[in-house]
Amino acid sequence: MLITFEGIDGAGKSTQITKLIGWLERKGVETISLREPGGTDAAEKIRRILLDSGGKITPVGELLLFSASRAELVQQVIIPALESGKTVILDRFYDSTTAYQGYGRGLDLDMLRSIITISTCGIVPDVTVFLDLDPETALRRKFSEKSIPIAFDSDELDRMERSGLEFYRKVHQGYLETIKQNESRFVTIDAKEPADIIHNKVKEIIMHRFPFSPVIEQ
Ligand code: TYD
Repeated sequence: MLITFEGIDGAGKSTQITKLIGWLERKGVETISLREPGGTDAAEKIRRILLDSGGKITPVGELLLFSASRAELVQQVIIPALESGKTVILDRFYDSTTAYQGYGRGLDLDMLRSIITISTCGIVPDVTVFLDLDPETALRRKFSEKSIPIAFDSDELDRMERSGLEFYRKVHQGYLETIKQNESRFVTIDAKEPADIIHNKVKEIIMHRFPFSPVIEQ
């Protein structure tokens, strides 16, 4: 089973993933959780190139680096884990590329689709949880988490975070468009709800979607 979490920076994915892993493990489900970009030696190096706040990277370069990191993670870790029967939880997958590099940076969506197919070996998540938060609130959370004033040129921000509010608005819109085109795979949850309420919803989704799974009993 492959479960992915998506949302703009600051939507609270990591908190939810930690809670979900705890719940699945208490149920005896063998789970691994990974984040993109990263997850193998090479992919972690690519992550540093992508997020280093001083770096300047073109949109196409960015797309190819995210995709290279993904290809490593998919082939070295995700496919073997799925084949051995593990549940894989991913903090971001190719929907991030569609939203950030496609809608955010404005790269051609058909070209993106081809690259995504190559980098993922065609793997599609069983379910994708979208934590929906408006960009203004998400960024306010991000800045207050880091205890810094709202300024997109702050050294405390990574390269992606420096892209500005207009970029995040496009990314958010990109997610909404992607969901419209993939309604059966996505579940949208309001990220402004308290973390425990969101967690209960995530559990319900998983029990509802996989009622016959031998490992997830209601
Ligand atoms: P990260 O620190 O992991 O952010 P978050 O906690 O918000 O997930 O940084 C990953 C950044 O990379 C984030 O800004 C989203 C961006 N990203 C893309 O632009 N394209 C992609 O394909 C992926 C996987 C991430």
